[in-house]
Amino acid sequence: MIGAVPVTVVPLAEVVVVENESAAGELVARSIVALIAAKPDAVLGLATGLTALPIYRALARTLADNLVDVSRVRGFALDEYVGLPAGHPGSYRSVITREVVEPLGLTPTNVHVPDGDLAGIQTAALNYEQALLESGGVDVQILGIGRTGHLGFNEPGSSFGSITRIKTLTEKTRADNARFFDSPGDVPLHCITQGIRTILRARHLVVLAFGESKADAIAAAIEGPITASQPGSAIQFHPHVTVVVDEAAASKLANLAYYKHAWLHKPPWQGL
Ligand code: GLP
Repeated sequence: MIGAVPVTVVPLAEVVVVENESAAGELVARSIVALIAAKPDAVLGLATGLTALPIYRALARTLADNLVDVSRVRGFALDEYVGLPAGHPGSYRSVITREVVEPLGLTPTNVHVPDGDLAGIQTAALNYEQALLESGGVDVQILGIGRTGHLGFNEPGSSFGSITRIKTLTEKTRADNARFFDSPGDVPLHCITQGIRTILRARHLVVLAFGESKADAIAAAIEGPITASQPGSAIQFHPHVTVVVDEAAASKLANLAYYKHAWLHKPPWQGL
């Protein structure tokens, strides 16, 4: 161990270019199943958004095929909208139940989503931060990235020191997420999200992106200057990051040939 970092960890973002989303799902699912086998009460950091779905689908299959006991696995979602009625299909509580808890067979009470109900909004963020700390921390955090470069709902300008709090969504993010609502005006203005500092406390970050529309955000996150204007660039501070992308999302990376070379020659003992 070097401090809290196992020596098998490469202290830079490892970029893995996969053929398609289902290959990404298989790769990440295998690594999560190995984690659960070693730590049956592992804490999974759960992203919503379309990007994470192939991971959950592959994970559900792999867990079932290997008869893995997930009854003690815990989960924490990254974020939630503020003010949606309970049970709204677009709420991240609903998404996490539908796409993660049910297909993976997790114990519902082990899976937490920030509480976006207006009634308790003054205390919800700190309560969530506290629950995360008390869990012992996230073992593997699945992350998508927004076109604005956001992680969770940390929009450009979010402090790298931020913890779970209420944020205002950009109009670009509201427009991107309108596909999950009946009309664009229904997308809430506010959200509750883990902060950048909260996210960086996870022991392993797995950042996923597919398609050309994510190429700029991925290049800025991995190779751009570290700046609050690109929240994704905060991953450069983390000692254990795996970025899994398709060719289109990887297309603006200056060091792409090197990342491919490094992956091809990755020592077999290293794991993700
Ligand atoms: C959403 C979520 C993020 C997600 C990102 C990308 O707004 N809050 O957690 O990673 O934006 O979404 P998608 O994967 O659908 O492109």
